[in-house]
Amino acid sequence: MELAGFLGSAMLWVKAAHIIFVIFLMAGLFMLPRFFVYHHQCAVGSDEDAKWIDRERRLLRIILDPSLTIVWILGLALAFNGNYWSEPWFLAKLLLVIGLSGYHGWMAGYAKKLAKGQRPMSEKALRMLNEVPGVAAAVIVILVVVRPF
Ligand code: HEM
Repeated sequence: MELAGFLGSAMLWVKAAHIIFVIFLMAGLFMLPRFFVYHHQCAVGSDEDAKWIDRERRLLRIILDPSLTIVWILGLALAFNGNYWSEPWFLAKLLLVIGLSGYHGWMAGYAKKLAKGQRPMSEKALRMLNEVPGVAAAVIVILVVVRPF
């Protein structure tokens, strides 16, 4: 079934909604690793520990999970509409957003470990991981706006 152009005049609204939920997603991807760093500094079982567990759970449930889902649905709709499947810039973007979705999945798993009182990673490693979404977002936006190849 040929889907190129199926969005018609709604395409710009869909692209606007895509970018709006990308902003929410990136906000969550920047906040959660930062929460992990602060969470690491409090004693397992303390009141502060319970507060961070709750904050991380709500950030995932209310912001991160819904916005990642909506970014994918609207992004794929735009991809079918523009028929970009053989465009190198789009394939490179898709690879990066699959990586970013994997990073999201890893963080959801790490929040579960912290909720069980585990602290498997060093604070230094968590601070370095905090840079990943920023670098990925910069490259993704350049790929989709500039389309360098
Ligand atoms: C999750 C999977 C994603 C898919 C399948 C996807 C796909 C797309 C497609 C097909 C377009 C339309 C390009 C056009 O017709 O002009 C688009 C636009 C855009 N996407 Fe995504 N995207 C995804 C995630 C993201 C993420 C994570 C970011 C940023 C970090 C992002 C940033 C943008 C921007 C800024 C535009 C507007 C480009 C323009 O108007 O020139 N997208 N996306």
